[in-house]
Formats: sequence, C-alpha cells, structure tokens
Amino acid sequence: MTTEICKIDAFSLERAKKIIESGGAVAFPTETVYGLGANAFSTEAVNGIFTIKGRPNNNPLIVHVHRDYDISALVDEIPDYAKKLAKAYLPGPLTMVYKSKGKVSPSVSCGLDTLAVRVPSHEGAQRFLRCVGLPIAAPSANISKHVSPTSAEHVLGDLNGRIELILDGGKCEGGIESTVLDCTGEVPVILRSGLVTRQMIANVAGDCGVYTYIKGERARSPGLMYKHYSPNCETALFSEGELEKALSRYDERAKAGKRVVIICGTEAVRLLGERQNIPLGKTPSEMAKNLYSALREAEKQFDVAIALVPENDGGIMEGVINRLSKACAGEE
Ligand code: TXA
Ligand code: MG
Repeated sequence: MTTEICKIDAFSLERAKKIIESGGAVAFPTETVYGLGANAFSTEAVNGIFTIKGRPNNNPLIVHVHRDYDISALVDEIPDYAKKLAKAYLPGPLTMVYKSKGKVSPSVSCGLDTLAVRVPSHEGAQRFLRCVGLPIAAPSANISKHVSPTSAEHVLGDLNGRIELILDGGKCEGGIESTVLDCTGEVPVILRSGLVTRQMIANVAGDCGVYTYIKGERARSPGLMYKHYSPNCETALFSEGELEKALSRYDERAKAGKRVVIICGTEAVRLLGERQNIPLGKTPSEMAKNLYSALREAEKQFDVAIALVPENDGGIMEGVINRLSKACAGEE
C-alpha cells in the first residue's frame, strides 16, 4: 500500500470519507497530535487501528466527534460539572470519560463500560469529522509506544505503507495529547495531564482530582501502564535542579563515544557550555509544542537524548514532564 500525504480540501476529504466508510483508517491533524481514525461503530475498522499501530488490545481509544454532534447519543449520566467544562473548553484539548451507552463497538473501550469523547478544535479535524459524519475512534497516529506525531511527516515516518491517506494540517499547535478527564464521579479526576490544566478545570468545576497510577494496580486509564512516547535511542530525564548530574551523564556518554544531545528549555541552553542541544522554547506551551519533534530529531541524529526540564509548575509543565518521564522510563 502506498501512503499519500494530502492537503485538506474537498477532494481529499471525499477520499477520506470513502476510506472510513469502507472500514479503513485515515490519519488526520488535531490541535494536540495527529490521530489515526476509523469508524467507531465498526469492530472490524476499530480492530484495524490496533493492528496498524501494534497497540495492546487493553488500551482503549478516544472517540472524536464534530462540535455539533450530540454526545448524548453515545454516553449517559453527563454531570453538571461536565456540561460546564464542555461549555468552557470544547472544542479543545480535553477528553471527557463518561458512562457508555454501548452504541459504539466494544473494541473502542476494550470492554470498559465507559467511553472517552473528544471534540478537537483543529479546523482540519472538524472538517474531516463533519464530512464523515460518524464518531471516529482515534489514537495518536504513531507506532505503539513511539513518540506521538505532530506533523504529517511524522505520521509518514511511522505508518508508511500501513495506511492509504494522511490528511495534512501542518504542525500541531498544542504538541502533547489532550487532558483525559474522568467525569463518572462526584468530581472530575484527571487521568492524563495535558493542555487543559488542573487549575483550569477546578476554576470551572469547583474541584478537580488527579489520579496517580500505582505500578501493579489495575489502572483506571489503561494507557498509564505503558512505556510511551519514546524515541529509539537511549534516554534520561533530569530536572534543572539536577543540572550537574545531567552534565556529568552527558560527558560520561560522550566519552564512551556516543553522540549525545540535551533537550531543554531555551533559557537553560547557556548552562550547557559547548554541549549539543535541542532547545524546546521558553514557555511551557512552547515546550509542549516542540517536545515530540525534538524527540524525533534526537533519535535520528543522536545515540543518547538527555532531557533537562524546569521544575513542575503544576500547569502545562505537568503534561510535558509526564510525557518525558514515560519517554525515559525503562522497558515495560
Ligand atoms: O490528544 C489526544 O487525545 C490524541 C488525539 C489524536 O486526539 N489522542 C490520543 O489517543 O492521545 P491515545 O490513544 O494515544 O490515548 C488515549 C488515552 C489512553 O491513555 C487511554 O488509556 C485513555 O485515553 N482512555 C481511552 N478511553 C478511556 C476510558 N474509557 N477510560 C479511561 N481512559 C481511557
Ligand atoms: Mg498515543
């Protein structure tokens, strides 16, 4: 199969619609990362996504819908706080988990009785979802465990020959995946941090919990159990408070003949002396936006990537640090 990258226009959208209707998968842009979408009503189509990505079949998918889609067709028991949050932040990088009505294929939620729903704000995503007119189950469009794609070229790098069509909407503005929020309880609980922060949620909902996965437990969000977002090179993660450690790791690996790079905030570059670096930007938002392209650049050109990150501010940095800790985790 040859994989084509196409700008989003009436012609490519019609082609995408045909592929989806015939049970295939199409990669499309969102404001966070690129998704690999298929018809959420079709078990065969949804299973196809797991096969294409090599994704473990106990890690559920998010259903994507356009802004005017009535989600009460798919989910039940939408609490008042969730309605307020949807009004404040949707369309946007916030995925909300509700009790499922069981209308989509059971493969989407991997047998859970809940369903994760997302309304992306990216104009290209909206056009695609509206044109198709179906709820689209979509994980990030990367090979399972690899770095998520934030450009059409990244998708091609991972899925060349495995899918027919990549809708090209340019570089993703957000850069890290949506916040996943459990809306099945009294108060919302963050399952995966992202660009809609705990503070933003608490401001609207009055309260917001954070779920922390304890290794060995049955995770409330199965995706939390896996190593993820990882470049194909040796990795390490240090906070800026551990600068000395990061630098000696660099020097030690360089001495061993490895090509080493430090991925860090632009402000931290001056602390590195002559050492190679890939700057992420100044603000947490810039760092999120550039994170995955930096990891992909690192794996292409270097043997060892050392991430050096600012202290966690509990805002967007939380999401950036979460992704980096998974990218730099040991094999699981
Ligand atoms: O920004 C995003 O969310 C991107 C774009 C493409 O929309 N999608 C994405 O999908 O990151 P994926 O499959 O890479 O991550 C989905 C996450 C996983 O951590 C999964 O465990 C969680 O959402 N999830 C999905 N359904 C769930 C459910 N019913 N209950 C709890 N967690 C769920
Ligand atoms: Mg993913």
